[in-house]
This record gives sequence, structure tokens and C-alpha cells, in this order.
Amino acid sequence: MQIGKVRLGGNLLLAPMAEVTNLAYRVVCRRRGASFAFTEMINSEAILHDNAKSHHMALSCPDEGIFGVQIFGRSPVSMAKAACLIENETSPSIIDINAGCPSPRIRKTGAGSKLMEKPDVLENIIQCVVESVNVPVTVKIRVFRDVSQTVELASRLENAGASAITVHGRTAMQQYSGVADHLYARRIKEELSIPVIANGDIRHGVFAARVLEYTGCDGLMIGRAAMGDPDIFSRIAAFLESGIKFPPADCDQRKSSLEEYLKLLEAYGLDKKVNLAAHSAWFTRGLAGSRSFRKSIQNVKSSEGIISRMEMLCREA
Ligand SMILES: Cc1cc2nc3c(=O)[nH]c(=O)nc-3n(C[C@H](O)[C@H](O)[C@H](O)COP(=O)(O)O)c2cc1C
Repeated sequence: MQIGKVRLGGNLLLAPMAEVTNLAYRVVCRRRGASFAFTEMINSEAILHDNAKSHHMALSCPDEGIFGVQIFGRSPVSMAKAACLIENETSPSIIDINAGCPSPRIRKTGAGSKLMEKPDVLENIIQCVVESVNVPVTVKIRVFRDVSQTVELASRLENAGASAITVHGRTAMQQYSGVADHLYARRIKEELSIPVIANGDIRHGVFAARVLEYTGCDGLMIGRAAMGDPDIFSRIAAFLESGIKFPPADCDQRKSSLEEYLKLLEAYGLDKKVNLAAHSAWFTRGLAGSRSFRKSIQNVKSSEGIISRMEMLCREA
């Protein structure tokens, strides 16, 4: 899959997720078959106000290879300036514009999915950011109820200079309820020439293949199903490439992914910045005994402590 001048190794992307897709987690997913990953959304105004945490979020390292930074905001000028600063500081290969966040806190500021209600502003943001950076600029949207209104917006964003568009098939009002409707991505793909990435509820290879076929999209973006299960990318890739159905990751496989993740957090100096208990808990979702594991790590501060409890969980499973 190609986005502007950037060639991705495949078509399975890790979704930007606040408090989830930190550098360590992105690296773990990339090593397990994710073709590309974005940072979580970064506040453009915070970048301009030299907020250290926000600048830190835009960092990558050679372990990751190419990566994308997602920014949010409502001012075309600020978004363009922030994108330019980030491009100079951390050299992402792609800058993505968040036009889909449904959180009332973000919408209240005029950013995220609120931008879809102000297409002139969103269009202007794309134009200004495209003018201010050398890398491709992409945009991630949700959908309106009305399919043709959604296609019309996507088409305007393409004309404004977006190099690709990700479509999460839910309205902002739906937040995360209901099911993603991939009809929107299909119609957008029919209309646009730039790559279109379908997003929403992709959890396994069979469904991934169905969405790719139904929408004709160039790529798929995976969010929640990748939380605590980075191996989802290699499983889906294997199914798409050769129809092989690997079983879900077992306890030992998840333990080794978690161990790698915790080591990388430490190596990148992120271990104090994430909630280790919450992040570790995702790796045991659906496993027998996961509830007591979650309880047992609430007050554990070290990765060794977490891993030894996970070893116990796997032995008992
Ligand atoms: C915890 C969490 C944080 C998220 N943060 C972001 C974000 O920073 N930027 C963004 O564009 N979408 C964000 N999303 C939305 C996801 O990128 C994705 O569009 C959504 O979860 C649907 O995909 P899925 O069904 O594969 O999870 C977030 C979702 C979750 C669950």
C-alpha cells in the first residue's frame, strides 16, 4: 500500500489510540505484522505551547521504522505550525489529522469529529497542513448518517490535498456503540482516487477479508482488538495472504508479548508514564483467571512482579 510517496510494507494499520499506542506498544505491534502505526492524537496547541508531554508523544526511534503522527485541533494556522514543528523534530513519514474523535471534551473545543460539521474549516486545515509539511497528510473521519454527505466530505478532503483517508464507520453520536457500517468506506472508495482505509470492529482474518472485499479499500485499521493482542496483525496477515487460520494467542504467547512490551517501556523511559496495571490487564482479556490477575497487579510497581503473576496465570490455565 502506498500513501503519497510513502510505501507501507502491507495494508494492516494500528489505529491511533489515546493512552494506548505509545512508542513501545507501536514497536511491539510493528514487530508482529502491523504495517504502520500512528501515535495517539496530539494536541496541536500543546505542541505550540511547548508542552513537554505532547512533544514526547510525537517521538519515535529506529526500532519502529516509519511511523505517523496524529494531531488534533481546530485552527488551520495552529495545526499547520504544529505539523511543521513535529516534522522537524521527529521526522514522521505521515501526518494524520484527527477529524473523528467523539469525546465531548475534544468536540467542545471545535476539534475531532466536530470538524466534520464545519467542512470549510476541516478543508482549510488539510490545505494549510499540506502546505506546511513535506510528508503526506492523511485524515481520519467518522461518518454522517447520510452516505452521500459523507462521500461528499471525503471528496472535498481529497481535493484539499489529503493523501489517504481512514473511515471509521460510526457516527460521532454513536461513539463506540452499535456496529461499524463499512458501506461508507465502500462508497468513498468508489468515488475517490486516494487510498481509503476501512476502520471499525475488525477482529479476525475472516472479517478482515470480508471488509477488504466488500469495500474495495486499500487497507484496514485495527484498534481495540489490538489492545493487549499485538499478534492479531500476524494472524490477520496470514489469513489474508494464505488463508491460514491461526488460533488466538494463548497465555504463553501473550505473556511473551507483554514481557517484550514492558521491557520496551522501560528502555524508552515510558514505564512511569503509563498505567502498568491497566496496560498489562489488556493482555489477559478473555483468559481464564484474568480477573484475579488484574486484581493481583493493582499495586505492583515492577514489570518483574507483573510477569511473575502472569507466569502463574499461565501455569494455572
Ligand atoms: C482507548 C481508545 C483511544 C482512542 N484514541 C484515538 C485517537 O487518539 N485518535 C483517533 O483518531 N482515534 C482514536 N480512537 C479510535 C480508534 O482509532 C478507532 O477508530 C476505533 O476504536 C474503531 O476501531 P476498532 O473498532 O478497531 O477499535 C481511540 C479508541 C479507543 C478505544
